[in-house]
Amino acid sequence: AKAQIGIYGLGTMGSALALNIAEKGFDVAVANREVEWIADFIREAGPLGARLHPHEALEDFVAGLKTPRVILFMIPSGAPMDAMIAAVAPLLSPGDTIIDGGNADFHATRRRAEEMAARDLHFVGMGVSGGEDGARHGPSMMVGGSEHSWRQLRDILRAIAARHEGDPCVDRLGPDGAGHFVKTVHNGIEYADMQIIAEIYGLARFGMAQPPAEIGAMFARWNAGPLQSYLVEITAELLGRTDPATGHPVVDVIKDAAGQKGTGRWTVIEAVRMGQAANMIEAAVGARAWSAEKETRQAAEARLGGARGALDLGEEVLADAFAAARILGYAQGFRILEAASREYGWALDHARIAEIWRAGCIIRSALLDDIAQAFRGDLPAGQLMLAPSMAAQLTAKTPALRRVVCAAMEGGHAAPVLAAALGFHDTMRQGWGTANIIQAQRDFFGHHGFERLGQEGKFHGPWWD
Ligand code: 6PG
Repeated sequence: AKAQIGIYGLGTMGSALALNIAEKGFDVAVANREVEWIADFIREAGPLGARLHPHEALEDFVAGLKTPRVILFMIPSGAPMDAMIAAVAPLLSPGDTIIDGGNADFHATRRRAEEMAARDLHFVGMGVSGGEDGARHGPSMMVGGSEHSWRQLRDILRAIAARHEGDPCVDRLGPDGAGHFVKTVHNGIEYADMQIIAEIYGLARFGMAQPPAEIGAMFARWNAGPLQSYLVEITAELLGRTDPATGHPVVDVIKDAAGQKGTGRWTVIEAVRMGQAANMIEAAVGARAWSAEKETRQAAEARLGGARGALDLGEEVLADAFAAARILGYAQGFRILEAASREYGWALDHARIAEIWRAGCIIRSALLDDIAQAFRGDLPAGQLMLAPSMAAQLTAKTPALRRVVCAAMEGGHAAPVLAAALGFHDTMRQGWGTANIIQAQRDFFGHHGFERLGQEGKFHGPWWD
């Protein structure tokens, strides 16, 4: 029998997805660039191996698929994907679909979709979230592609996706790059959320002298309430772990220099390019970049002093600050999605995006359920932060965010994302701001002109009379 789907690329994510699909009763053709991995993979698959059909040659792999074909590539993004398309496209027939399941740049996805469409082939950009465990037992998947491809794919994807109260966390969100873009913004929100958690850890550790396990216990308590989220849950767990080699808390032996593969950065670049300012996500990307300069930071500590003052902050005020900042971080993510939806004509359904993020993905959280409901309801000025439920929470909890940020700044603690959250909040809640000064300056030095309140047209200041 021919396979319903082919998976090329048996790395961590590809093999986990192949096993997940096979387990749901589909026949899967599998192939890999390093052919020697394939036999090992089939052997380790145990009984599921019966539904996995290995191929060494690309021609055989393609020939082993039911038509119109569906091939999922789980390979490094960028040049390898273009090389793979060049190799496989001549073997395909009109109506076949290629899926890129990696974290690809959505601009490349749009270009590839266009190039493939010219050959009557379909290209799907699919964001897959949830890491290895998610891929194996239920990821969240963000699909961008044609309706035709979605009809080919949806039964398989719905069968393998994570479920939130029975609803599979997968959908077609729009054409071409829409799925990869939504995944990119998912990661931008992920960066901000991770950094907020790290900053709260820093305040508790260095300002309140709490040992890691105690902070972990605090996150575990939070995870039992409205702040429940996967990232809070795993942070609670990892803070409680001991390094077997040294007996120290494991977080104390991990170098404080963060990696990043690019999705957070792309989110910020796209936001800025579309005239947005996602300052929390930017601060989170920046914090990772600064963290990587460990030697510079050590030199600066020696010259500038690294003292951090004691903080008098209770658990509740930290929790409320987190709650407020987290809403603002998500709000920034959805603002970028809205801007891109307008720019590319994607008509993104924000409520559906929130829904498919409720399970399986890295940012899954109780808050996403409230966000999905908020998007289904009344959204003043189209802003998530103004939805009644979100505005009520912000009103109740921003005072705590303000207290935490003030205390952190006063004590010399770095909290760039918490501070950015407050800067965003306080800027957006001022109906009368300070950009009149900017406009006056621009007109003064460059004759750029300005609008007058309540009057149509372009004006200049008396400095030009
Ligand atoms: C997910 C993750 C996943 C991965 C990223 C993280 O949704 O499952 O976001 O895509 O962990 O590679 O990106 P960084 O390496 O940039 O942190």
